[in-house]
Amino acid sequence: MVQGKNMPSFRVQTPARSYDAIVERGIIARAGEFLPAKAGAGSVAVITTHDVWQRHGEALRHALGTRVRTVLYFAGGEHNKRMPEVERLAGEMVDAGCDRSTVVVAFGGGIVTDVGGFVASCFMRGVPVLQIPTTLVAQVDAAIGGKTGVNLVNGKNLVGAFHQPLAVLIDPDVLGTLPEREYRAGLYEVIKCGVIRSLPLFELLDSRQAEVFSLDRAAVDELISESVRIKAEVVTADEKEGDLRRILNFGHTIGHALEAETGYSRFLHGEAVAFGMNAATHLAHIHGLLGAVDTQRILECVRRYGPIPALHGITAASLVARLGADKKTIQGRVHFVLPDSIGSVRILSGIPQDDILAATEAALA
Ligand SMILES: NC(=O)c1ccc[n+]([C@@H]2O[C@H](COP(=O)([O-])OP(=O)(O)OC[C@H]3O[C@@H](n4cnc5c(N)ncnc54)[C@H](O)[C@@H]3O)[C@@H](O)[C@H]2O)c1
Ligand SMILES: [Zn+2]
Repeated sequence: MVQGKNMPSFRVQTPARSYDAIVERGIIARAGEFLPAKAGAGSVAVITTHDVWQRHGEALRHALGTRVRTVLYFAGGEHNKRMPEVERLAGEMVDAGCDRSTVVVAFGGGIVTDVGGFVASCFMRGVPVLQIPTTLVAQVDAAIGGKTGVNLVNGKNLVGAFHQPLAVLIDPDVLGTLPEREYRAGLYEVIKCGVIRSLPLFELLDSRQAEVFSLDRAAVDELISESVRIKAEVVTADEKEGDLRRILNFGHTIGHALEAETGYSRFLHGEAVAFGMNAATHLAHIHGLLGAVDTQRILECVRRYGPIPALHGITAASLVARLGADKKTIQGRVHFVLPDSIGSVRILSGIPQDDILAATEAALA
């Protein structure tokens, strides 16, 4: 960790590029400082959504000044995170006079950072992207690590590219306008970070829930910083989904199955991950990895940041049947990230189907 003015900055080092993920209130006002100095005037294309631009666009426009050539709006929503939108946005960039010296600024939630990053990865064979995430999910996860992409009808995030940003600017102030449900969805990913790698982060969430919910500055800054530290550390150690990066998938194996089973519409991604974390925690316990006390602590913490939407009509059998189709499946083997204590996980494959079914049933109960 490198200390900035008051707030921390975390170095992400990958073979393609090294950059900082900076957590700093008001950093949007300094966004211009992170553009390459040599790019000409009018060289920025902002990709955002109307709601984010309406609430926070003025600060960004002020920060980027005359360098903004165009502001492109993305409709938002998982159903729009598709190839036709990539083509439309790239076409609008050409129409606006963007060229190979253009920098894309992706300003929004995880959908915008994924789509904006992907457009940047392929526009004129690749231009730089500056990531400015505005949801908790995007701040602690999606905008860091260079994974970009869109969905196919066949499944989520099936087309994409690794495209590391110039920097990731994380301004906790923007969370003040985030709908509460979106905030809670992000908090589940923060719980995930605690369980996989940081007992202090888990304890913060466990013991300071009222402060977390009321957006207490110290609590929020701490939980974002610790999550960003973990993501930056894991990505640095292992850019392309090797073993270490796979620990970030805790809760995602069954979480993805739940999202697919419900057509990506009933649960927010973080909510599906919350369910998946419950199932994985039960599985770790059934499998003899995780003791009863830690099992209850994790389940209870997830419960207190809920509730997630009702699970009626979903069966364990239908979720388990979907596991083989997950993108994270490697050569047909389903991998599970399972905690052996709070702050430490193992990656296991070859777990008996009956145990997976029992754990999923326990999470549904
Ligand atoms: N690339 C990765 O490593 C990675 C990791 C995690 C998630 N993701 C992707 O991220 C996406 C989910 O992202 P998300 O949860 O941020 O959802 P999202 O991008 O849909 O944002 C949620 C909603 O909040 C609005 N919003 C954003 N910031 C706001 C603010 N400050 N105030 C008010 N409203 C605001 C958005 O316009 C949107 O309507 C998924 O597509 C997922 O696949 C990618
Ligand atoms: Zn996730």
